[in-house]
Amino acid sequence: MITTNPFSVLSETVPAIAMQTFVIVMALLVVAGTLIDIIHKKNVKYFFENAKKAKKSAKKILTTGEKTAVVIKTIAYDVATTSELGAGKRRVAHLLGMYGTILFWVGSVIMIFCYASVSSDTPSLWPIIWHVGAIMTVLGGFWFWFFLRVDVYSEAHPWYRIIKADLFVLALLASSTFGLTWSFLQSLNLGNRWDDKLFFFLFVLSNVVLFGGVYWSKFAHMFYKPGAAIQKNLAEADGSRDNLPPPANAPEKFGLGIKREAPKHY
Ligand code: HEM
Repeated sequence: MITTNPFSVLSETVPAIAMQTFVIVMALLVVAGTLIDIIHKKNVKYFFENAKKAKKSAKKILTTGEKTAVVIKTIAYDVATTSELGAGKRRVAHLLGMYGTILFWVGSVIMIFCYASVSSDTPSLWPIIWHVGAIMTVLGGFWFWFFLRVDVYSEAHPWYRIIKADLFVLALLASSTFGLTWSFLQSLNLGNRWDDKLFFFLFVLSNVVLFGGVYWSKFAHMFYKPGAAIQKNLAEADGSRDNLPPPANAPEKFGLGIKREAPKHY
């Protein structure tokens, strides 16, 4: 299973062009959903106005070289390692999900655009990347869903309580779980039975919800977060600090109470 390209097997019944069109439509849905989100929430407008305002209190003008260095450092550290999540399980779970999803998507695009025909000989690397990516997403995502979600971890809500904000993580989990199950059932060679067809349908449906739901879900955080991290580090480097006060030059005194319980209430 892990070395078989499921899209090549699928091409016996679904033409490659249909799969490729589906991927393009999904990408367009992400662009449209993000743009509508930006227009509706005005978050990017606010972001740039705020950055312009902060620039006025900059203590130093950064050269292009210095700005580039800040951007590269931010991408290599803050974004690539999601440093915002601090040390611990929350970050490990996110990294598993994030890199798993990237592998899963890259594997899907390569296999659908380069090897989606019955005659194509897919190098084993791509199905392995696809399956490993899906497994990593499932592990990181379910770990987050059952144990780390703020509602469950800090607010003592049961894991099965679902709210609109869960649309992204649930659609992401559904997509990788149904994708894996479909590939597994396909590898069993069940002939013309319904099983793999059902899971293929669920796989398609979960992708439509995931990519079509960008406007309503947290999907776009994967674009906003890197932008915000770059702005924060540029504001740090030019001394404007987004108009926030500098850290206090005094010992941290929070009293003994702070030691009673690790901070986990948001
Ligand atoms: C392919 C890229 C990414 C994927 C698939 C992904 C996936 C996820 C998922 C599933 C969640 C949980 C959402 C929820 O609260 O229901 C999440 C939360 C989060 N993501 Fe991402 N993410 C990606 C990129 C990024 C990037 C680039 C950053 C930061 C630079 C980032 C920072 C965060 C933060 C801070 C949270 C909140 C985590 C928490 O509440 O524990 N993500 N992400």
